[in-house]
Amino acid sequence: MTKGTHRVRGSAIEVLDRCAELDRYSAHASYLERVYLSPQHAAANAATADWMAAAGMSTWQDAAGNQYGRREGREVGLPALLLGSHLDTVPDAGSYDGMLGVVMAIAVVERLGDRIDDFPFAVEVVGFSDEEGTRFGKALLGSCAAAGSWDEDWWELRDKTGLTLHKAFHDFGLDPRRVGDAARRPEELIGYLEAHIEQGPYLEAADASLGYVTTIAGARRFKLSIIGEARHAGGTPYPRRRDALVGAAEAISTIERLAKASDCIATVGRIEVMPGAVNVIPGRADLSLDLRAESDQARDAMWSAMSADIEMLCEARGLELRVVETHRAPSMPCAGWLTDAVVDGIRSTGDGEPMGLWSRAGHDGMAVGAVTDIAMLFVRCFDGISHHPDEGVREQDVALGLDALERAVLTIAEGRP
Ligand code: GLV
Ligand code: MN
Ligand code: MN
Repeated sequence: MTKGTHRVRGSAIEVLDRCAELDRYSAHASYLERVYLSPQHAAANAATADWMAAAGMSTWQDAAGNQYGRREGREVGLPALLLGSHLDTVPDAGSYDGMLGVVMAIAVVERLGDRIDDFPFAVEVVGFSDEEGTRFGKALLGSCAAAGSWDEDWWELRDKTGLTLHKAFHDFGLDPRRVGDAARRPEELIGYLEAHIEQGPYLEAADASLGYVTTIAGARRFKLSIIGEARHAGGTPYPRRRDALVGAAEAISTIERLAKASDCIATVGRIEVMPGAVNVIPGRADLSLDLRAESDQARDAMWSAMSADIEMLCEARGLELRVVETHRAPSMPCAGWLTDAVVDGIRSTGDGEPMGLWSRAGHDGMAVGAVTDIAMLFVRCFDGISHHPDEGVREQDVALGLDALERAVLTIAEGRP
């Protein structure tokens, strides 16, 4: 606690202080990065477990490094309403993407207190261990383990030092053979409700503190390799040049043009050029491509148009296009009944008519939706910025978010026998 600050338990100030405290568990002194199965992951789990325990929850870390807390309802062992988000970050992250949802969930349990004793379900909070995929390049590892959708092929994924996911499990003190123990069964859960910063500008533009999510975008990711021919930069006349980078530049413009003409989003976030010398025509360019849309059909239609146009422009330049799909996640709709409770929660705060929006960002609910119904509450962020250290939330919006989340949980409790 900051000296001199009056921190009420379960308050927005406490939530913001805890997000700031989690910033300390970073692999770097000058910026925030906390990745899966790192010492910082362990430290963040330990701090979170302490806060869960202080809110009256029993706590455990599961077989995939997800941190849980649980408070029983009117009987021991009832299915649980799961609240939470993730504790891992991108490199040079802000303080709220993921963490806000975990500490808000704990604050709501704190605020509900003994009222949970009469609930027809238990309340659990989870801090998922890997949503971003920063370390092993595969997103949602923690929540996939919880959803029972772990893929044995993932053990051979490597971090940038070459360490396998399998070895990292061991080093963290987890047993890879037991990862299946992290899987939740549908009958153990009544639903998953996640609060998260919006990570976009729409709530701010609408002057709304809070919003509810209709659907989480379906994503596809590709590695595009454009193959030309490396030759002397001075000696090769234009008709003889097969410049992979110029082809890649044209492909990137095409990608942006087609995405802008649809309701979809496409990003080339990484490009690698070989051989990468000032006096050699680029012989090969490797690009990453991330595609998102509200519906899988819209996203797939955009990809068909893009791949046809890129193929054509490569052909015109004598270049070869190779495509490898590296990730595909279907869009995940939020459940009506759970979303109604979120809408009820927002309405109870007096924050205007609740605004629904589809999430362009990915979330743990994409994985958890395979075992239970999901819904999401969005909290407005400054300037729509996220995945950046300038990420910020207003204390007043967090306060309204806590009121809304608490009300949503009570609405769910009141609506069940
Ligand atoms: C995760 O934050 C993503 O949307 O990629
Ligand atoms: Mn993120
Ligand atoms: Mn997130």
